[in-house]
Amino acid sequence: VSDSNRRWLVRRRPEGWPEVDDFELVEAPIEAPGEGQVLLRNLYLSVDPYMRGRLRDRDSYAPPVGIGDVMVGSAVAEVVESRAAGLAAGDVVESPTFGWQEYAAVDAAGLRRVDPELAPVSTALGVLGMPGLTAYFGMLDVCELRPGTTAVVSGAAGAVGSTAGQIARIHGCRAVGVAGSDEKVDWLTGELGFDAAINYKTAGSLTRALAAVCPVGIDAYFDNVGGPITDAAIRLLALRGRVAICGQISIYNATEAQTGPRLLWELVARRARIEGFLIFDYRDRYREGLEKLGGWVRSGELRYRETVVDGIERTPEAFISMMRGGNIGKMLVKVG
Ligand SMILES: NC(=O)c1ccc[n+]([C@@H]2O[C@H](COP(=O)([O-])OP(=O)(O)OC[C@H]3O[C@@H](n4cnc5c(N)ncnc54)[C@H](OP(=O)(O)O)[C@@H]3O)[C@@H](O)[C@H]2O)c1
Repeated sequence: VSDSNRRWLVRRRPEGWPEVDDFELVEAPIEAPGEGQVLLRNLYLSVDPYMRGRLRDRDSYAPPVGIGDVMVGSAVAEVVESRAAGLAAGDVVESPTFGWQEYAAVDAAGLRRVDPELAPVSTALGVLGMPGLTAYFGMLDVCELRPGTTAVVSGAAGAVGSTAGQIARIHGCRAVGVAGSDEKVDWLTGELGFDAAINYKTAGSLTRALAAVCPVGIDAYFDNVGGPITDAAIRLLALRGRVAICGQISIYNATEAQTGPRLLWELVARRARIEGFLIFDYRDRYREGLEKLGGWVRSGELRYRETVVDGIERTPEAFISMMRGGNIGKMLVKVG
């Protein structure tokens, strides 16, 4: 155990794209755990798109981070000292409230124990964590996958998208991905078993490119990004098509409200449905989701990749890189 805790504070709210200087690395004393708490040492820190929303001075489904506060984030961490029943030094847990820091004293009640036998512990932040669960419930519950249908996923080479497309494939659907580089597209079709994938940066007309690989239309569209990719997908929806709005990363750094083609009339003749969802609403079913995802990972049906940046001092850089597409699979910071 070190005697000081390096942590990233929010220095100012980003205007548009975040910058490293929006954050400040400071050293603080390591807190002592209170009754019912454990002291945790960070092993892996997650950087996620939702963090951009927390940096805005506006309440959404969660309050913003205060200026001068430790930046929010989940981590996989090791118990250093326990004052809580059921957890002992050496146990590995996932903490959704850890923050961008090396050590934290947290309530044991909010922790999930991670099984190092099942898979590398870092997966508790990706395929076997919140992103994997988002893909699972978004695909099965919101998109209502049916065998033999066509499912399209945007942001397909990211943490959520790469899992979502494979879940479609596992359920007997034609899985089509949209991602931002040839390397990502090759990974999706080569290793993950997507039936087709498109590089949206070089495809030209997205409607034409998607139509070519979805000849009978799109039955389920799992949307991580919004913008022109989503405009194209909506135009190609099949009868009774379903759209799950998981995220809209293409506008997270926008400084002005976006207006685009007004496409809602496309839903009428197709009797299609668009629905937003939040993973937290599925809290009561996390166990079911994790069991399924864990089984598929164990059997090799569900593959994953991680892009790991080394060192807590590089956390803002990792966050910004993820927003710009620098990751394949889940973006993580290795801390311990
Ligand atoms: N609803 C929920 O409960 C929930 C839960 C978790 C995550 N989410 C959402 O799910 C989405 C994916 O999250 P994640 O953690 O899996 O992140 P991720 O996909 O691993 O990383 C973000 C990716 O977004 C892509 N991207 C960035 N700008 C883009 C643009 N303008 N157009 C198209 N793609 C762009 C980049 O890949 P490219 O190289 O392909 O551009 C980048 O790698 C986000 O929108 C997030 O907010 C929602």
